[in-house]
Amino acid sequence: MGKLPSKLESKLAERSANQSLRNLPEETDRVDFSSNDYLGFARERKISEMTGDLLKENGKQRHGAGGSRLLSGNHALYPKLESFLAQHHQADAALVFNSGYDANLGLFSSVPQRGDLVFYDELIHASIRDGIKMGNAKSYKFSHKDIQDLQSKLEMSLRGQSRSLEIEIYIVTESVFSMDGDSPDLKRLVQLSKEFNAHLIVDEAHATGIYGDGRDLVCELGLQDEIFARVITFGKAMGSHGAAILGSKDLKSYLVNFARSLIYTTALSSHSVAGILASYQFLETKGADRVKSLKKNIKYFKELIREEGLEGDFVESDSAVHCLIVSGNQQAKMMAGHLQEAGFDVKPILSPTVKLGEERLRFCLHAFNTEAEMSRVLGEIKKYRSR
Ligand SMILES: Cc1ncc(COP(=O)(O)O)c(C=O)c1O
Repeated sequence: MGKLPSKLESKLAERSANQSLRNLPEETDRVDFSSNDYLGFARERKISEMTGDLLKENGKQRHGAGGSRLLSGNHALYPKLESFLAQHHQADAALVFNSGYDANLGLFSSVPQRGDLVFYDELIHASIRDGIKMGNAKSYKFSHKDIQDLQSKLEMSLRGQSRSLEIEIYIVTESVFSMDGDSPDLKRLVQLSKEFNAHLIVDEAHATGIYGDGRDLVCELGLQDEIFARVITFGKAMGSHGAAILGSKDLKSYLVNFARSLIYTTALSSHSVAGILASYQFLETKGADRVKSLKKNIKYFKELIREEGLEGDFVESDSAVHCLIVSGNQQAKMMAGHLQEAGFDVKPILSPTVKLGEERLRFCLHAFNTEAEMSRVLGEIKKYRSR
């Protein structure tokens, strides 16, 4: 096997020196405070059984899709899932992608055109940044959740030029931020988008299935008709894999024609698509109870944070994601190591994934976590600090 080029070797060495070398972790049976399986669907045997039933009911089973969706891969479960998703998430149309990463890459690389402007929250997910980078539009980041900053950047970029009808503006946010767990003021963002005649795009990865009676946060707020595109993903609370872009029928048609991450890749197998449908069926019967347990756990965890005097150290959040800022890669790794030794699966999030100095431990709460587990894990933080 060939030797790694020296430039690559030195990049790896730099990562090691910064304590930021990434490794693939082994599966553990520690208490789960790390996965995005917020509702416990990924570990739900019933969903696997329902997937099998759906496959049987839908006849022609093939192991793989056999091609891209535009060629032989668009098997019968795809239109079934997409019309279900459009109805469930109250959109005109849904287009399924192989993952949220692919959906964002396809959307942001193909929709904003040369001369268009994209304004995105500084903490937006890497998949959106990568998509924007692949496209030809100019992009500007605004301070996290800062509507005032966004407004001044919109005004500044348009100052001195009468806006040509040709220039489209896109504003991009997440409804629940993946690494902070907080949410923007979506109603104000809708207002501002209207004032500037901009298209608002919302990534709902960490809200899918949890808010708005098993829909998403945009639906909970009744804003679904005001949003140009929503990205929902199935790898988190839905416990499955894949994603969809929700929007108009014309947007769907545009993406089918121009989103390269949809066109040039093999489609999901019928088993994967049936798995997503089964997750939604399960959500319809058991979702409300699971969401109730998750919300109860979020409330309890926040109370514990307050009781333990850790409020100032955690990023304020009402979602399932709670982050304890532990500045420094080495420090974050050491504290996570302590919690792991104590039996808890808590992961450090290091720079460059987050800003230097904002390294953290990310606690993902689940419907299935117990009060005793939450209380013990926070107790371990105090123990670690008082060593
Ligand atoms: C906000 C956000 N968008 C998109 C993605 C990508 O989704 P997927 O894991 O389905 O590729 C993630 C997952 O990490 C995410 O957190």
